[in-house]
Amino acid sequence: MKILILPDREAAVAACVDLIAQTLTATPDAVLGLATGGTMEPVYAGLLARARAGEVTLNRMTSFNLDEYVGLPPGHPQSYHTYMQERLFGPLGFDPARAHLPRGDASDPMAEAVRYDAAIMAAGGIDLQLLGIGGNGHIGFNEPSSSLASPTRVKTLTRATRAANARFFGPDETVPQFAITMGIATILRSRHAVLLATGGPKAAAVAAMAEGPLSARCPASALQMHPKATIVLDAEAAADLELRQYYETVHPQGQEVSLD
Ligand code: PGA
Repeated sequence: MKILILPDREAAVAACVDLIAQTLTATPDAVLGLATGGTMEPVYAGLLARARAGEVTLNRMTSFNLDEYVGLPPGHPQSYHTYMQERLFGPLGFDPARAHLPRGDASDPMAEAVRYDAAIMAAGGIDLQLLGIGGNGHIGFNEPSSSLASPTRVKTLTRATRAANARFFGPDETVPQFAITMGIATILRSRHAVLLATGGPKAAAVAAMAEGPLSARCPASALQMHPKATIVLDAEAAADLELRQYYETVHPQGQEVSLD
């Protein structure tokens, strides 16, 4: 794991945007794995700003999002289809044929999950997989107890995840109970995994991921097995890392981020 600790959220987001932009500059038709959630909102804003400034071309990539709520059709305001449409694809005028998300309204969600993994394979696999982390250590919706060898499938969301995501739903709406999520094996097959975590509430999960045992209790710890994982943190999210000083020696703050 390459652990980059940036002074604040803004700098961590900028480093993450840099890694994506560098990937797309080297390979404009790269396959990107995209994530949703509050952490990613400034990442998409940053990417859009760079695209508008002519610094990066986003229209030639292909994308596969990590997950979608079971039961929500693409047009539902809280679907991840809508999240992506509003924050990235719409403003970009992105070709819908290049943007892939699992269909939450599929009549057979299990079959949809199998189809989704096959579509990722058919596209040649994911070059860069963007990830957030849940306070409970999930990546995608791979909740604690997820098999570390799991394919894309349907997962039951924990109470903690549903409570955390309730902020995106109206007071009269309930957060769905199930999601289709890329599996941990799917994520581990990506050629480069980039996980962004910002803020103090993520510190314990980040420490468990990077320094705890490889365990289904913290699904993100599976990234310890990834041949190329970059963990981008702000100081608050890095606060519980025992070896923080070591990481800061290896990758000093202020150094340009690079794909190597
Ligand atoms: P957040 O979600 O960015 O909204 O905190 C991250 C996640 O649950 O993976």
